[in-house]
Amino acid sequence: MNDIALLGGRIIDPANNLDFQGDVLIIDGKISGVGQDINLPSEVEKINARGLVVCPGLIDSHTHLREPGQSAKETIETGTRAAARGGFTSVVCMPNTNPAIDNPANVALIHEKATREAMVNVFITGAITKGIAGEELSPIGSLKKAGVVAITDDGHCVQNNELMRRALEYSIMFDLPVLDHCQDYSLVTDGVMHEGYWSIALGLRGWPSIGEEMIVVRNIMLAGLTGAKVHCQHISSRKSVELIREAKKQGIKITAEACPHHFTLTDNAIAGSEKFWGDDGKELIEDDVGFSDSAFWYSYDTNFKVSPPLRSKEDRKAIIEGIVDGTLDIIASDHAPHCLYEKEVEFDNAPFGVTGLESILSLSLMRLYHTGKLGLSDLIAKMTINPSRIFSLDRGTLGIGKVADVSVFNPDTEWVFDLNESASKSRNSPFGGWKLKGRAILTIVSGKIVNRL
Ligand code: DOR
Repeated sequence: MNDIALLGGRIIDPANNLDFQGDVLIIDGKISGVGQDINLPSEVEKINARGLVVCPGLIDSHTHLREPGQSAKETIETGTRAAARGGFTSVVCMPNTNPAIDNPANVALIHEKATREAMVNVFITGAITKGIAGEELSPIGSLKKAGVVAITDDGHCVQNNELMRRALEYSIMFDLPVLDHCQDYSLVTDGVMHEGYWSIALGLRGWPSIGEEMIVVRNIMLAGLTGAKVHCQHISSRKSVELIREAKKQGIKITAEACPHHFTLTDNAIAGSEKFWGDDGKELIEDDVGFSDSAFWYSYDTNFKVSPPLRSKEDRKAIIEGIVDGTLDIIASDHAPHCLYEKEVEFDNAPFGVTGLESILSLSLMRLYHTGKLGLSDLIAKMTINPSRIFSLDRGTLGIGKVADVSVFNPDTEWVFDLNESASKSRNSPFGGWKLKGRAILTIVSGKIVNRL
């Protein structure tokens, strides 16, 4: 294994409160020095990191790797390659595969495949219910023994409140966080986009905000009752942010995540870029960094179909406020690859989901850091130490002796996201062709370089 010295970078390690210019030394896959004028062994590979940010390896806590069973969309190999390209050293993969990851054998399968083929660390989540059918609990203790870091029915939502309560009670016994895709089926029915002005204008069925909020309330109540650790995934609505903010104030153990598509886009995007205007006639993205002229797309583009859906301008603003004030703990991609043939159908019939691993860092920098809303350290914390703590990963820090997972990025590099060059097997990103700012330069996993620009 090569030993590496990253020299002269801006070292930002929120876990250790570090933000200074200096060097990081990696020996035998571990962090061996962080500081200024470190003594370097003669054999070390020296890499000039001047002008670059050097931080703990980024963790994506919401990734769909699609194996087993959906390898036409993505594989562990391609998904983790996309992760490395995007600056991530770890991903937390979702269990809505085919079959679902609802038993120890399937966890072992992912684990073995990841050991052979993955470019980055793969942490595995197990299903809350068997087959993600929402009817019978999975063997949560056995899943934990097999190595899952959390349980979730992501893509689906346990509707039966009594079953969810039991899942939370078991999760305490096995010290696992429970992640929830918050969606009340009776309220959402077959909605395909945010219920509002644009769903009416476009003639598409609405997926109302209350369909998310009702389950957020349920989760807050059950977290309060049981004391379990509940994490609300991909929060999209203003009211959900307010509810979680209030619950946290009351000391309830609830955490939440936000995705770049929800804090970058609105439902207006489904009307096409030509009509990218707010109700007040002003351009919808008023405080962006040149988004509106950087890409063109057509109405009813299914690459904007995601669950929960892109919402209103007010919701987008509230998500950003929630990230900034700490209500939303994590920024995650919800990388959800789908085949071209599946997405190239009528909006109603396309699957929900967008890819995100290669654009999340840039979009987060553009929407949060370059707009002056969030400092780099706070932004990095939401993709390093925060997910590490929530999932108990022993990652997300540059502490001496820790595994040398390191990300190096340039917050100012301007580039165009060319989907033809994506490492993912799928192309269903709404951000293809966009001018982005900020890019991963070097990704190091256990002291090994897995991506270099
Ligand atoms: O849009 C989504 N796609 N949301 C989810 O929660 C699941 C995901 C998928 O698996 O495709």
